[in-house]
Amino acid sequence: MMGRAQEAGVLDLRIHNLRDWTSDRHHVVDDAPFGGGQGMVMKPEPIFAAVESLRTDASTVVLMTPQGRRFAQPMAQEFSAKEHLIIVCGHYEGIDHRVIEHLVDAEISIGDYVLTNGAIAAVVFVDAIVRLLPGVLGDEQSAADDSFSSGLLEAPQYTRPAEFRGWKVPDVLLSGHHAEIAAWRKREAERRTRENRPDLLP
Ligand code: ADE
Repeated sequence: MMGRAQEAGVLDLRIHNLRDWTSDRHHVVDDAPFGGGQGMVMKPEPIFAAVESLRTDASTVVLMTPQGRRFAQPMAQEFSAKEHLIIVCGHYEGIDHRVIEHLVDAEISIGDYVLTNGAIAAVVFVDAIVRLLPGVLGDEQSAADDSFSSGLLEAPQYTRPAEFRGWKVPDVLLSGHHAEIAAWRKREAERRTRENRPDLLP
């Protein structure tokens, strides 16, 4: 999908190494935390240097961090409208807070768990955004029909065979009655949402 988006010219994705913006011999990007404590903290200078050399007037600077706003579909929509995203990925215990205060426009978490590497979170963030860009998904409708864009989870889907190991596809889906199928899907979407994600219901 990412490759298709780039071939279609709707995405220009580049990956940069912060070590390229260090000036010391060992290309150090982290240091011990002031005040003591475990782990290392990412130094501000390479991050400021990288972002300042890459950004344009159209850039939005995002930091992937478990301390960020929790990512969800409305945010994917919001960020898919941005012209240029610079995504900063941490790989340590933390990042010098001056980066957050003076460089970053948005701190984003992909969920309430801690990964070892913000780049993994960035892949999730970018994938969710890029699939919303016009011309990326084969069927323009498919992003609009997604779970979450309706506020409910998607209804169950089936394909051939109509019977597999004795398990039959619901009759209504084979009936050709479009109104009944739509009503069944709505009921099933509501049931699934109630069972799996009651927090999404009003
Ligand atoms: N880096 C480590 N954990 C993360 C998370 N949950 N979201 C975004 N970035 C992270």
